[in-house]
Amino acid sequence: MSSTLFAHGEHGGPDGSGRSSGPNESAFGSPRIGPVHTIAVIGVGYVGLPTAATLAHLGHRVTCGDADPAKVAVLQQGHVPIVEEHLEDLVREGQAAGNLSFVVGATAAIQGAEFVFLCVPTPQGDDGSADLSYVEAVAAEISPHLAAGTVIVNKSTVPVGSTLVVERVLGRTDIQVVSNPEFLREGTAVPDSLHPERIVVGGDDQAAAARVGELFAGTQAPLLITDAATAETIKYASNAFLATKLSFVNAVASLCEAVGADVRDVILGLGYDRRIGFEYLKPGPGWGGSCLPKDTRALVHIAEQAGYDFSFLKGAIATNEEQFERVVTKVRTAVAPTLAAGTDGGGDFTGAVVAVWGLTFKAGTDDLRNSPAVEIALRVAEGGAEVRAYDPTVKVPEGARSVPVPGFDVVDGDGSLLAYPDAYTACLGASAVVVLTEWDEFRWLDFTKVHDALAAPVFVDARNLLDPAQVRRLGFSYEGIGRR
Ligand code: UGA
Repeated sequence: MSSTLFAHGEHGGPDGSGRSSGPNESAFGSPRIGPVHTIAVIGVGYVGLPTAATLAHLGHRVTCGDADPAKVAVLQQGHVPIVEEHLEDLVREGQAAGNLSFVVGATAAIQGAEFVFLCVPTPQGDDGSADLSYVEAVAAEISPHLAAGTVIVNKSTVPVGSTLVVERVLGRTDIQVVSNPEFLREGTAVPDSLHPERIVVGGDDQAAAARVGELFAGTQAPLLITDAATAETIKYASNAFLATKLSFVNAVASLCEAVGADVRDVILGLGYDRRIGFEYLKPGPGWGGSCLPKDTRALVHIAEQAGYDFSFLKGAIATNEEQFERVVTKVRTAVAPTLAAGTDGGGDFTGAVVAVWGLTFKAGTDDLRNSPAVEIALRVAEGGAEVRAYDPTVKVPEGARSVPVPGFDVVDGDGSLLAYPDAYTACLGASAVVVLTEWDEFRWLDFTKVHDALAAPVFVDARNLLDPAQVRRLGFSYEGIGRR
């Protein structure tokens, strides 16, 4: 079996080959196995788990430690507690090979480890800076138990200079700390981890950094060894660049609306220029997720602390905020005719029933953190609308008509945000349906049934997912992003 798997854009099984594996073959291909090492991964979230499963696939002996006993119990049974395509298969492969195990707590995981990967969250602090308290707490916990010569690998996204913070907390001169930023995306975490476009390792001890780079030799990705501050900066600069590119294309979409151009063709015209490319040029409701918003704000903060005003990046963040509001305005315009007919006009959306398709921050994940879809749905609900949402990952118990979307309260207005069991029931009696996440299943619905369910046949497609000509033919009005 070829070891070049998951070439970007390929489909047909986890290895992209379209054929199934024999009893002794991995469905994920056979990497070039180098020297085998004993590794601990602390924190099995969206980054830690794919990282651990990949290292196990590369032949290493990996023990994962997490503070949450319930999560560990689920993983021990071979189940993955998040929505991430192919991850469960990769985890099970590691478990079956005896390379991957799960324990409660960091100290239990590091027994005998030569390398310890820190993959714990770094949430956003009140001032926009990244909160290092989880990283520091784990470092303090494991320090007395580490064998001399262990290398600590920081995979959590941490401010420039954090490698030094971890060194200080550890307080041990016989332990090296390096930074190894992660570039995987949720939804494609498995192919991204098995086939990274580059491995970056930064450390003041270059030999330790090179040893960490060697762990990933089986991926055959280019390896870049730098100092710690440079590796940490590469991570932030990468996410800031992606965010900037997205804000740029959303701004171009707004321009298209103003001048009567069609953004889809503009993107084609741009993307064929290889210096620009097609990636990250899809306009949408704004960018979100657990990384881009947090990391861009953290970088503005890091720059400020260092005496540099990163006004350029502030502009990209402000454009993103505007994008949320632009979509809310499109929804308001779409439902205005119904409001005029039957409400007291007390709030912006008072009396409106609005259907929403998609709540996650993008397709392929169940992650609702910093989701533009949730942000927009909440703003509409706070304006007084009854928002009926459907997302394939937000489960509604059998027999229930709807449930509140977990973790989100409507704070202003008399509106509500409820999750419905399917796309059709969410549309019943609504004056518009707003597409906020690009789940593929939304393309293949029975649009006649959708038409019959709605009180008014109106689409606001914030992902440019649908074919405007097709839905207009069926009698819908259609409003996309930057499209004619
Ligand atoms: C992002 C980066 O892409 C990863 O390289 C990085 O490792 C990760 O953050 C991280 O720091 O952990 P992720 O948060 O999974 O990955 O999400 P993306 O796929 O980058 O999407 C971010 C947002 O941009 C989403 O809201 C998505 O819908 C939006 N987007 C993306 C668009 O609106 N248009 C596009 O063309 C692409």
